[in-house]
Amino acid sequence: MGRVANCPSTMEMLIGFMIPTVLVLICMEPNNVEAQVEEPPYPPHYELKALREIAAELGKKDWNFSENPCNNKSSWFTPPPPPHVSQGIYNSTVTCNCSFPDGECHIDGIYLAGQDLDGVLPHSLVNLSYIKTLILHYNYLHGAIPHEWGAMKLEIMTVSMNRLSGSIPGSLGNISTLKYLSLENNMLSGTIPPEFGKLNCSCSRISSNNFTGKIPNIFQSWKQLEKLEIQASGFEGPIPSSLALLHNLVELRISDLPGEGSKFPNIKNMKNMYRLMLRSCNISGPIPDYIWEFSQLQILDLSFNKLEGNISDSESLAKLQYMYLTHNSLTGSIPDWISSRDSRYQMDLSYNKFSESPQSPSCRENLNLFESFSGGKNLGLDNCLKNFPCSKDWYSVNINCGGGATTINGVDYEADEDSGGAAKYFPLKETWETSSTGLFWDTSVTSRDFIAQNVSILRTNNSKLYTRARLSPLSLTYYFRCLANGSYTVTLHFAEIVIRGNRSYQSLGRRIFDVYIQEKLKLKDFNIKNEAKGVDKVVVKQFKTVVRNKTLTVRFHWAGKGTCGTPRRGTYGPLISAISVDSDFKPPVLSGWNKKMKFVAGAVVCVLCLIFVILGILWWKGYFRHKPSREQVLRGLDLQAGFFTFEQMKAATNNFDATYKIGEGGFGAVYKAYNIRMLLGCMDVALRELSCCWCPKESQLLDWPTRQKICLGIAKGLAFLHEESSLKIVHRDIKTTNVLLDSELNPKISDFGLAKFDEEENTHISTRVAGTIGYMAPEYALWGYLTYKADVYSFGIVALEIVAGKNNTKYRPEEDFVCLQDRALVLQQKGHVMELVDPRLGTEFIEGEAIRMTRVALLCTNSSPALRPTMSEVVNMLEGRTIVPELVMDPSIFADESRLGALKDQFNRMLTQKSSETAMVTQTSDSSSKTWPHSSSTLV
Ligand SMILES: *[C@@H]1O[C@H](CO)[C@@H](O)[C@H](O)[C@H]1NC(C)=O
Ligand SMILES: *[C@@H]1O[C@H](CO)[C@@H](O)[C@H](O)[C@H]1NC(C)=O
Ligand SMILES: *[C@@H]1O[C@H](CO)[C@@H](O)[C@H](O)[C@H]1NC(C)=O
Ligand SMILES: *[C@@H]1O[C@H](CO)[C@@H](O)[C@H](O)[C@H]1NC(C)=O
Ligand SMILES: *[C@@H]1O[C@H](CO)[C@@H](O)[C@H](O)[C@H]1NC(C)=O
Ligand SMILES: *[C@@H]1O[C@H](CO)[C@@H](O)[C@H](O)[C@H]1NC(C)=O
Repeated sequence: MGRVANCPSTMEMLIGFMIPTVLVLICMEPNNVEAQVEEPPYPPHYELKALREIAAELGKKDWNFSENPCNNKSSWFTPPPPPHVSQGIYNSTVTCNCSFPDGECHIDGIYLAGQDLDGVLPHSLVNLSYIKTLILHYNYLHGAIPHEWGAMKLEIMTVSMNRLSGSIPGSLGNISTLKYLSLENNMLSGTIPPEFGKLNCSCSRISSNNFTGKIPNIFQSWKQLEKLEIQASGFEGPIPSSLALLHNLVELRISDLPGEGSKFPNIKNMKNMYRLMLRSCNISGPIPDYIWEFSQLQILDLSFNKLEGNISDSESLAKLQYMYLTHNSLTGSIPDWISSRDSRYQMDLSYNKFSESPQSPSCRENLNLFESFSGGKNLGLDNCLKNFPCSKDWYSVNINCGGGATTINGVDYEADEDSGGAAKYFPLKETWETSSTGLFWDTSVTSRDFIAQNVSILRTNNSKLYTRARLSPLSLTYYFRCLANGSYTVTLHFAEIVIRGNRSYQSLGRRIFDVYIQEKLKLKDFNIKNEAKGVDKVVVKQFKTVVRNKTLTVRFHWAGKGTCGTPRRGTYGPLISAISVDSDFKPPVLSGWNKKMKFVAGAVVCVLCLIFVILGILWWKGYFRHKPSREQVLRGLDLQAGFFTFEQMKAATNNFDATYKIGEGGFGAVYKAYNIRMLLGCMDVALRELSCCWCPKESQLLDWPTRQKICLGIAKGLAFLHEESSLKIVHRDIKTTNVLLDSELNPKISDFGLAKFDEEENTHISTRVAGTIGYMAPEYALWGYLTYKADVYSFGIVALEIVAGKNNTKYRPEEDFVCLQDRALVLQQKGHVMELVDPRLGTEFIEGEAIRMTRVALLCTNSSPALRPTMSEVVNMLEGRTIVPELVMDPSIFADESRLGALKDQFNRMLTQKSSETAMVTQTSDSSSKTWPHSSSTLV
């Protein structure tokens, strides 16, 4: 239909398409005739002309005027993506309304989004008399909003995420049909014209612009308004009183109003409010009690004001999920309803003046109590840090914020990969912690939000420091402790890795934030991209500061400047790639060296002694005299493995024929049997290689990473035995002597199903099985009650031994503890868990992991089997994927109903995990192929 291109009259067009249609109709089967859809008419000539002018003004080059804009099969119309495909920003659609009585079609919508159009807003739009929807967001349009637009009958108008400038024309106030108006993320200046008072929108977004002056008092007639956003607009306070008239508001966001403050605005009648933000608006006085009765409220953000007084004791906030009272001057005690909510609710009370009391909430995830209390001991902080007494003075800390551990020019940067959170302060380390406050409101919350990832390949040196960076929607504090007092240099590494630098909407983002060191403003309105003169470029800032109380805080704060929505919604807030804190003075070298020398000498003597002891034992055991052959040993022993006798196993594997071997570890072979699959512990191997078996006595040879690896390996192996393997097995005899290490020091659980053998023949196998007593779960030892949880208990003991490098039963410390476990419990109670760690490691261990392992171990050795975690939960805890629930052993705690309730909640998960805790090796005829464990622990 090429000839239609020259603006055909309606008549010409009708003829033009009727002829082919008629032809088609003739050829069609009669029952298909109804499916045939007539092509709609072209829009009138003047609308086509207007479209051409609009294209020129916008810089839209690919509209095809050879096609009918009202035909939704033409290139003018992008069909919506199928529901399962996520809808991107890009859209290029023109829509028509063909339901006019005269049979005409008129253009009623233009959607051009994410196209980087770099023209201006089209004046010719007024010639599309029937247009109702105009969407031009995510482009690169410049210039002012045409005042002619005031004559249109638009219902939806979005010109956000562009670089529009100038002031808003008052004529827009005449668009009485307007329901939705979004002007955000531009460079509009001036103020909102008084004519806007006539508008009757239900949603208005004007955030992220460069307005000036006070918020105009124009809300009198906006009775329909449901959503109002005046975030980071450039306006000054106070909040206008006419706000109180907007009874239909369900979402109100006002932030960052400098200038004159006010009391809490009257919003009493907005009973259906579900999101309320009055952040950084200079509001003083108390929080009115009616706020705590807003039953629909999901998000409440009153942070960074001067609010005073107590929080009400009663509430009916049934739907509350996020609450920010951060950085006010709230007093009184923290009410029960906050303490008792669990970690599904994210609440941030950091930086306030609450008073401490014994009822103050305990340290838990998603309740940020960083510096929440006034004066005194700062109980909240102590509660969180009591497990981390300073082991020594530190002089230097380096963090790869948001990234993994790395070494750059000989400096080791610690990993900082915690997923972060919207209200998070939950210490896991000795020297530094983060307190993260804030929620990205317009994106669905994912953990990825708090760590930014580079969007293009970085070509800077040290790119490892910059590929990932920690991000915060509002406030992020790095809190350093255990530092030696004195003067320090703080080095901050930045690179803009999200906002782009091309001529595109992706470059329109302006990330602007402030940096405080020791709560003194050091960088104001800092813009990484401007400072580094481009994106993906590094800028390093250094500051001198003084550490007086062993602590140092570096706080990054988003003060509501810049943009929030480009390249995508939620792109804003401080971004920090790496932090180094270094003392300006040398650590006291001499005493340190002396200590080191003593330590080294001691270690050498210990190692030598040990070697003699081991050689002695081996000699005594006859290892240097005669080694029995495999066959001799096997023949000499009437072995029983679980329910299988040795003879049965021998038969099943055709006398351990090599062709039945399906794997070989450092200590023996794994065989495939005829009709059942089973795991064989080959006893000759256990005998022959016993010298390699790892016993705690020799553990000083193992460094911390190896211990962590071994512990995790055992846990994974047990998780496999208990939960994944098709033969569900309770090992019954987990102990350190049953954990063999191969040449790479990978742990292998041996002797499973051999508990019987051990009991009957233990004099034949090893003198070291004496440990068994110390490993048995009480319910098994006392009542013969055997479940998977008995292995969990034994594992807990092994884990304690790994931490302490000591044997549970042979442990004889100065005080009168029964065993290592007993001492560990006492240390945990006193909050001195670190004292448990093998002193031979010196400082060469990772505190967070050691604490974690100890806490997991104590959890596993709980006397009640139901309160012990399952092995897969143990693996998750050891890998830091889940939190280790607090172990509460003090019996008096059970008198406190609320604590007991919380405790029950914590463990409910574990209780429901395994309902059928069947014991023993289950003999199955299942011959279906079974995959071998992927875990790092193989089973010998
Ligand atoms: C415009 O549409 C016509 C008719 O469908 C087609 O032949 C032509 O190739 C299109 N032009 C472009 C540039 O896509
Ligand atoms: C395309 O237009 C026809 C009428 O011409 C209409 O029946 C159909 O629903 C439209 N399809 C879409 C996806 O809008
Ligand atoms: C373009 O926008 C229209 C109107 O909002 C919508 O119906 C359509 O699904 C969008 N298309 C794409 C590809 O997102
Ligand atoms: C199309 O126009 C007719 C006539 O003005 C109007 O009644 C109808 O609501 C419009 N349809 C849409 C989807 O806007
Ligand atoms: C915002 O407006 C002020 C004047 O009111 C101007 O000095 C400033 O440069 C503007 N900001 C930007 C980012 O354009
Ligand atoms: C230093 O910290 C201790 C304990 O955290 C506190 O008691 C003391 O008041 C602090 N001193 C100063 C000067 O901040």
